[in-house]
Amino acid sequence: MSEQPLTAQSGFDAERVRKDFPILQQEVNGHPLVYLDNAATTQKPEAVIQAIVDYYRHDNSNVHRGAHTLADRATEKFEGARVKIASLINAAQARQVIWTRGTSESINLVAASWGRSQLRQGDRVLVSAMEHHSNIVPWQMVALEKGATVEAVPVDATGTIDLDAFGEMLDERVRMVACGHVSNALGTINPVQEIVRMAHSVGALCLLDGAQAISHFEIDVQALDCDFYVFSAHKLFGPTGLGALYGKADILEAMPPYQGGGEMIETVSFAGTTYNQLPYKFEAGTPDIAGVIGFGAAVDYLTSLDRKGAAEHEQALLDYAEERARATPGITLIGTAANKTSVMSFMVDGAHPHDVGMLLDQQGVAVRTGNHCAQPIMDQFGIPGTVRASFSFYNTKADVDRLFEALAKARQFLV
Ligand code: ALA
Repeated sequence: MSEQPLTAQSGFDAERVRKDFPILQQEVNGHPLVYLDNAATTQKPEAVIQAIVDYYRHDNSNVHRGAHTLADRATEKFEGARVKIASLINAAQARQVIWTRGTSESINLVAASWGRSQLRQGDRVLVSAMEHHSNIVPWQMVALEKGATVEAVPVDATGTIDLDAFGEMLDERVRMVACGHVSNALGTINPVQEIVRMAHSVGALCLLDGAQAISHFEIDVQALDCDFYVFSAHKLFGPTGLGALYGKADILEAMPPYQGGGEMIETVSFAGTTYNQLPYKFEAGTPDIAGVIGFGAAVDYLTSLDRKGAAEHEQALLDYAEERARATPGITLIGTAANKTSVMSFMVDGAHPHDVGMLLDQQGVAVRTGNHCAQPIMDQFGIPGTVRASFSFYNTKADVDRLFEALAKARQFLV
């Protein structure tokens, strides 16, 4: 096992970066906090917290509507954030980025708007067997309404999508392929470029759920050629309750509105209503202005970092943690695909994941336990859930060591 500090291997200074995150500088249950639940939500740097406070202290006003200075300032920052997020994912135009409440709402928007208007009896929607419930249930809801089916693309025992089986499932009745870029439960990085290409070969659209990918590596929606890419602000060092939907402009233009209300209209009369242009057509009501501005600050923060170094550091952390897990009798890794990032899911022999999680928490180590909103893949593995340690660039080798020390103590109680 490596004796080198991981920071020296990658050149990325995690110790310095973690000082930007005030929440990490605390004790929990009498121990310095080790936060390993980054797949559930990432922590927020001071710059994000400050941007939200500054908005409420100095600029609070509604956007697009006001004819006064505060409204102009709020609108400028709000639309400025849209440009930043568009640039982060290399969208051709900022109007292709629509604000939502998060990844789940982004998928619900596409399922409800595109799905209701496009799916017909007998059409097929394919999702991978390791999807989060958010990328299964919205499709099931619209499929039920339209007489379409939702089918699972098989995943093997390592947590890798079976591309041959996927190829065999494709035919002209497949209208949508919806797939996670990275599995939240297993950490598998899916071959999404190939999946998009294969979906397009039969005329299907492809939606990629980027919630677990976007904080770990650079995303280029034009290179991926996906039709939709969805993600949440809170998993990208920004605030909760906010997310984005990227879509190809012609597809978004052709989709009917999702919700009605202010902002999404052009004209309203009892004779009939006409709708606003993109992106406002999909943004009914006053949006989460503070959240969007905080999200913009999160993107500024992220892009100020050495992202390649951060990704290498995260990979080194995962490799080190999995190496330790493999060397520890009684721990079984769940999700061993060749291409993984930042998620180590595991079982402790003879112990329920919840009990392990509770005993880790008592020692200041925060992990997630359970089915991770991915019940079908847990069922496939024949387990109720896992213990999941998920890493971000502000984690250190010392955090991984603390996890294994705490696990050893937990096991004294449990087995
Ligand atoms: N989807 C989030 C997770 O995996 C909440 O924890």
